[in-house]
Amino acid sequence: MKNNKTTQKSLSVFGLGYVGLVTAACLAAKGRRVIGVDVNPQKVLLINKGKSPVIEKGIDKIVSKTVKAKMFLATTSARDAVLNTGISMICVGTPSMEDGRINAGHLRNVSEEIGKALRLATRYHIIVVRSTVLPGTTENIVIPSLERLSGKKAFRDFGVLVNPEFMREGDSIKDFYYPAKIIVGSFNGKDKEAMSLVYDFIKMPIIDTDIKTAEFSKYLDNIFHALKISFANEIGELSLKLGVDGKRAMELLCMDKKSNISARYLRPGFAFGGSCLPKDLKAALYRIRVGGLTLPLLESVQKSNDSCIQRAFEEIIKTKKKKIGMLGLSFKPGTDDLRESQMVRLAEYLIGKGFDLKIYDKNVSMARIMGANKAYIQKEIPHVSSLLCVSLEHVIKNSEVIVLGHATKEFKNAVKGLRKGQILINLT
Ligand SMILES: NC(=O)c1ccc[n+]([C@@H]2O[C@H](COP(=O)([O-])OP(=O)(O)OC[C@H]3O[C@@H](n4cnc5c(N)ncnc54)[C@H](O)[C@@H]3O)[C@@H](O)[C@H]2O)c1
Repeated sequence: MKNNKTTQKSLSVFGLGYVGLVTAACLAAKGRRVIGVDVNPQKVLLINKGKSPVIEKGIDKIVSKTVKAKMFLATTSARDAVLNTGISMICVGTPSMEDGRINAGHLRNVSEEIGKALRLATRYHIIVVRSTVLPGTTENIVIPSLERLSGKKAFRDFGVLVNPEFMREGDSIKDFYYPAKIIVGSFNGKDKEAMSLVYDFIKMPIIDTDIKTAEFSKYLDNIFHALKISFANEIGELSLKLGVDGKRAMELLCMDKKSNISARYLRPGFAFGGSCLPKDLKAALYRIRVGGLTLPLLESVQKSNDSCIQRAFEEIIKTKKKKIGMLGLSFKPGTDDLRESQMVRLAEYLIGKGFDLKIYDKNVSMARIMGANKAYIQKEIPHVSSLLCVSLEHVIKNSEVIVLGHATKEFKNAVKGLRKGQILINLT
């Protein structure tokens, strides 16, 4: 079966709630023939009368116009929708269960209904998951249901994509036409060009990724937004206690587009350390404590950082090897500053457990001999600094496990040549 490009201009949208209705009506307004499907006959009736079943700025007009123009019609029949369109977008709800799990019941049902219809389809059809689902849901629930009920094979007889929705209720029409991003998750890049045709009126490149990352991207955004709101609220509380205008303080924070409102510090890696972050966090936590405040998010930052070091330590233990080579000891590359270095803390854990540890850090080795940090190194961490080696090759040659602490060119090149059996633990 061939992917028929003309069919991308006709779509089905399953689930006519906030996301589905906006998606369906906005696509219809852009010249796509859209069939909306919902299990709720009242919603279907209302839409076919040109009325919106949800309250959303501007949606009434678009629904009324597109229904009148016969570009958008609603039905309860999955079969009619699938057999008369080239793409089915799934927008059913994925509400929380009591234990926090998502209720995938609607998703399973809709996949089965589409699957049944697919059995009868003679054209290639693409199913697009637009509902918010945890990574693995498309693979473990949607695809098996579609395959079982259709008797066909995903990525051969029909396509599957994940295209999460990032709109905000209240601004959803504006967000639909001017999205922050369009993400399409596909299997081996298959079928993704279908989405370029669907969204050809949005002048923005589509971001390609795999199915699981696309699923995760929506969660990530929402978790991050929740974290930002909670951070701002806790800062507001702390500011009040300190006699500071919290709103103004946060405005100033947001003015820094280099370190604060930017991608900086947003890459998964290893714990923070150094002479500033741990010290200043400690001071703030002290004020929170003596002020009798409860600010769980700020209080948990230290714990989160500690558990990062603990995880690295456990990963090393799990290798069951004893000879460990650590590349990088200062808190970041390009400095000899060891104060509150997360690498020093990891080294101390390893020494405490009796590992045979060798460390290479050129800047620290030099500082040990003559730098400003000489006294600190000799007094505070003689047990760690005594393990410093002057040769990177020596450390690599004599270690079973290499712990990469700094992402420098020198280290990245060095670990490319590890022997067979040597284990690399990359903390960068
Ligand atoms: N609401 C938002 O702002 C928003 C934004 C982005 C993503 N999302 C995600 O999009 C999804 C939909 O959210 P929503 O707020 O539009 O949900 P909703 O509950 O408003 O609408 C879901 C619709 O699906 C219908 N439905 C259920 N089972 C069906 C089936 N088998 N066939 C056809 N229709 C069926 C329901 O009758 C309902 O009308 C969720 O996963 C949600 O997390 C929501």
